[in-house]
Amino acid sequence: MSKKVMILPGDGIGPEIVEQACRVLAAVNEKFNLGLEFVEELIGGSSIDVHGEPLTDAAVERARSCDAILLGAVGGPKWDTIDRSIRPERGLLKIRSQLGLYANLRPALLYPQLVEASSLKPEVVSGLDILIVRELTGGIYFGEPRGIRTLENGEREGYNTYKYSESEIERIGRTAFEMARKRHKKVCSVDKANVLEATILWREVMDRLAPEYPDVELSHMYVDNAAMQLVRAPKQFDVLVTGNMFGDILSDAAAMLTGSIGMLPSASLNEQGQGMYEPCHGSAPDIAGQGIANPLATILSASMMLRYSLGMTDAADVIEAAVGKVLDQGLRTADIHTAGNEKVGTQQMGDAVLQAL
Ligand code: IPM
Ligand code: MG
Repeated sequence: MSKKVMILPGDGIGPEIVEQACRVLAAVNEKFNLGLEFVEELIGGSSIDVHGEPLTDAAVERARSCDAILLGAVGGPKWDTIDRSIRPERGLLKIRSQLGLYANLRPALLYPQLVEASSLKPEVVSGLDILIVRELTGGIYFGEPRGIRTLENGEREGYNTYKYSESEIERIGRTAFEMARKRHKKVCSVDKANVLEATILWREVMDRLAPEYPDVELSHMYVDNAAMQLVRAPKQFDVLVTGNMFGDILSDAAAMLTGSIGMLPSASLNEQGQGMYEPCHGSAPDIAGQGIANPLATILSASMMLRYSLGMTDAADVIEAAVGKVLDQGLRTADIHTAGNEKVGTQQMGDAVLQAL
């Protein structure tokens, strides 16, 4: 039975890194006879240039009919001054929201080979293995009302709404508890319950769920403290669960502990288990087109896709082993390069992974 995968290269370094991931997918497709079929669509600025909007309804419908989606990145300076209702990022938010991809899993795993690339001391980060579970379709990113309005005194005011319903909190909370069950059985829920009502409720709902998962230890932490603890003693965490905006911020910080955000894959799942897979990093317009971006986060996202949405665990294992192998060989893109290693470009890194398969 064939499985359909939608490829959304996007903008900036998106197309370059997705190209390498697609080569790797094509190779395992053949090797394991997976029957994967690929379809491609535009998203972000590249879609604005062609269709005048960052993601067409037709593209969303096509995505809906696919078994999984692999995305590069969106956005860039070219579209920074465009009307905010059609910014490239809106395309990403639209697909997350329309497909109900509420559970964003961002594993921050330190490869032992990259311990030197981390900005923290080896003893603080070696063995690091955190999973950030970020709520992705609610919170302040989507809360209404929102906008920029002019007040009576003529001054303008920007405003957003931070809200979470009990069912939204419960749904992501359950994801976190279930994930912890497969790991080290600890969930830390991150909120700002000393100030924000939306997160007072968040904490209450997490506490209410906890007795259903007696094998998992639940703790709570304010987001400012969590940011500090992530750079002070990150190994205290197993699963971190939090809302959309806090998760956005904390996952960038956690990424850096692992040496580079260029290494981190992510999965965004809906209630049907359909998923979109993308690197945690953005479109990096400053290095786009230079052939130096790290394709490993996207290659690892492709492997997460095989594992979580397509049930092709053998192929996923092989890809992850291949990534380990190229790191063992000392090959490093610029973002993870340290003295004594060989610096390679995007394509060469892709070649090396293919070779190692
Ligand atoms: C991310 C990104 C996006 C987000 C942007 C590009 C809209 O930063 O996936 O973390 O804020 O969610
Ligand atoms: Mg982000």
